[in-house]
Amino acid sequence: MNRRQFQSPPTVCVVPGDDAMPEVVHPTVEILRSLAPTIRFNEVVSGREAQERYGEVFPAVTRQAIDAADCTLFGASGGPSRPVLWYLRWNKETYINVRPVRWSPGYNSPLRNPERVDYVIARDNLEGMYPPREGDIAELATLSSRLSWWLAPPLEKVGAYAVKVVTDEQMRRVALAACELAVQRQADGYPGRVTLGAKYSIQPRTDGRFRTLVKETVAAYPDLTYQEFLVDDMARRMVAAPETLDVVVLNNEHGDILADVASGTIGGLGLSPSACYGENYAYFEPVHGSAPDLAGKGIINPTAMLLTGALLLAYLGYTEQAHSLEAAIAQTYREGTALPVDQGGHAGTAEFVDAVKGRL
Ligand code: NAD
Ligand code: IPM
Ligand code: MN
Repeated sequence: MNRRQFQSPPTVCVVPGDDAMPEVVHPTVEILRSLAPTIRFNEVVSGREAQERYGEVFPAVTRQAIDAADCTLFGASGGPSRPVLWYLRWNKETYINVRPVRWSPGYNSPLRNPERVDYVIARDNLEGMYPPREGDIAELATLSSRLSWWLAPPLEKVGAYAVKVVTDEQMRRVALAACELAVQRQADGYPGRVTLGAKYSIQPRTDGRFRTLVKETVAAYPDLTYQEFLVDDMARRMVAAPETLDVVVLNNEHGDILADVASGTIGGLGLSPSACYGENYAYFEPVHGSAPDLAGKGIINPTAMLLTGALLLAYLGYTEQAHSLEAAIAQTYREGTALPVDQGGHAGTAEFVDAVKGRL
């Protein structure tokens, strides 16, 4: 997913985000700096801190820093930083969300044979039920359909609707990105299998169209194979037969939910990295949210954020450094002497980070 020329030196905007996120973003940036001293990191504020300092949650200085950078490392929004997240997705058109799902020895998976879990979710990052478009049922009076099983909305009742909107352009580029990922992984020995999970049975115009376009796109790659499952069955397979998965393509809302399910199979949200790529921009944030329940406790697991940092390094071309970081994290888990609290250990955030640093 390295599609563009970067500045010299490459520049990364850092937006630590809300609640517990600065507690994992700061040590991550420190490690990234030590691994790649040539990268310029520019940290800016958002949310409550920006409100206090600039009178708004997403001030112009923050937007300008995002624009001036090659990519952004983002913590997560717990609400106050949501405009930043929106900007990174829709203004920067980061259309594909890549969420690797891979168990590593030492991860506290609830599965019996977790070594079977090693695949990547390719999620539509822009369309479907996002951004939310909702209204009153009464606004649906002009809706009609040729579907034989169509039922008109209950216009006489008080209630609301939400719409799902998809475009061929976006579904095609999501499909293409998934295929390119599968090709890249094939070079590393993976089977080159693209698996679509969608509700094409019930939503023929949206998920059905997605199915057609993904299938067509995969067919243009002679070395890739295609499989498809209704998304409910797909959810079961992620838990019961993860070894059958390589690149999993999902729409926005299914990808959001199933990425957390997938994360659960390897040991939880503390472990799951994520990256969002567009033609001209990329941003990096873990799968998890701002973990408000952990804020200030010093025990949030920094692994997801560190692995997200490794994805950022790889994006900027620092492949060796990315591998070193991933290897140091894997070694820390394998040895098991500094396991984070969510993995059944006693190491706080700082202790775990020190253990990783010691193995770099
Ligand atoms: P969450 O992912 O923040 O937390 C869910 C559970 O996982 C909590 O028990 C939390 O303690 C735990 N957890 C999360 N990250 C962890 C880590 N690194 N180490 C250890 N445990 C971890 O989800 P939530 O509580 O449903 O949402 C909190 C806020 O985050 C909400 O405002 C939500 O909208 C937001 N959110 C933002 C993003 C994003 O910005 N991309 C993603 C998901 C959720
Ligand atoms: C995610 C989050 C976001 C989403 C929220 C914060 C809008 O859950 O990135 O997984 O639903 O996409
Ligand atoms: Mn989510």
